[in-house]
Amino acid sequence: MNNVRKATIATAIMLAGGLGQAAQAEVKVGLMLPATGTYAALGKAIENGFKLYVEEQGGKLGGQQIQYFAVDDESDPAKAPENTNRLVQRDKVDVLVGTVHSGVAMGMAKIARDSGVIYIIPNAGADMLTGPLCAKNIFRSSFTNWQPAYGMGIVAAEKQKHKTAVTINWKYAAGTEAADGFREGFEAKGGKVIKELTLPFPNVEFQSLLTEISSLKPDAVFAFFAGGGAVKFVKDYDASGLRKTIPLYGPGFLTDGTLQAQGDAAKGMLTTLHYADELDNPKDKAFRKHYQEKFSMEPDVYAVQGYDAAQLLAAGLNHAKGDIKNKDSVIEGMEQAKVDSPRGPFTMSKAHNPVQNIYLREVVGNHNKSLGVAVANLEDPAKGCKLSK
Ligand code: PHB
Repeated sequence: MNNVRKATIATAIMLAGGLGQAAQAEVKVGLMLPATGTYAALGKAIENGFKLYVEEQGGKLGGQQIQYFAVDDESDPAKAPENTNRLVQRDKVDVLVGTVHSGVAMGMAKIARDSGVIYIIPNAGADMLTGPLCAKNIFRSSFTNWQPAYGMGIVAAEKQKHKTAVTINWKYAAGTEAADGFREGFEAKGGKVIKELTLPFPNVEFQSLLTEISSLKPDAVFAFFAGGGAVKFVKDYDASGLRKTIPLYGPGFLTDGTLQAQGDAAKGMLTTLHYADELDNPKDKAFRKHYQEKFSMEPDVYAVQGYDAAQLLAAGLNHAKGDIKNKDSVIEGMEQAKVDSPRGPFTMSKAHNPVQNIYLREVVGNHNKSLGVAVANLEDPAKGCKLSK
């Protein structure tokens, strides 16, 4: 072999070595979301939103290529430790992203606390995650269950002038905390919750509970259901005839990502949430356009939360100049982030939960149309969180 040829081979090997190092510098993101069951569509929207933002940045955040790992969590809390460890121990992800169901997220948070992996929650609202269980490496791009529900309680009493209400929800953290949040807002403004009805997740046998509501005759009903369960509940409520006499309210999950399937049964419903379909800001317009082009469907709140989870990670990585191993710096960047969200800009509370507007929305056609801000810059009280900013 002549010398020129040898040199060429050596250069090729060096280049390959260089590329090898670059490949090692990739950031490994573990997406743990529901791909099956009543929350499957919500998981897909979160994944779409996350990947859309990364794609808009040319596949890189903080200059680093993003490599994905994925697990279907089935919205099953019992499987959470095993599923989370597939990503954390087997795949050795740098960042854990998930999930929809609060019970599963509690299991993920325990492993995040023990392992120190950076963990971003793109939906699950369990108040404890950014309350007593808050941690330096745990962030949320979504909401606490308290936030939209509290807002609805205020609106139901103050604006809608209701005096009595019945709550109905799946009996697990999300439903229970939403009912508690509603009660707090509603009773602070002079209303009274006269009965709390529940059924196990993800049951959709609503008939006997609807009969009970009809005999209780409250002024209003507040419901927490989401995904497939929300579609069925809103349709059953309408079919029972109750809607003609007792208005149905909820956190916006009751009508988000579900309107196509709910049809006229949801028409005119009022809900509260940290997003609405027709927010008049340039970021939202661009986001909705890109999402529609890429996925041939309209985005919902879950897509926004996924998109913002990626934006939050980008803020951390940019701050750390792309070095995911410099965890303190990534965390500092995320804490300081001002996220330019389709929902409107938000910042992180000291407990790492968005401080955000809660919008009042009305179902008009296939949209949750904003009627304005119900509560501005609402910060979860984060009871029991010992972090300081
Ligand atoms: C939750 O489990 O925290 C949860 C699930 C679905 C939602 C909202 C909250 O739409």
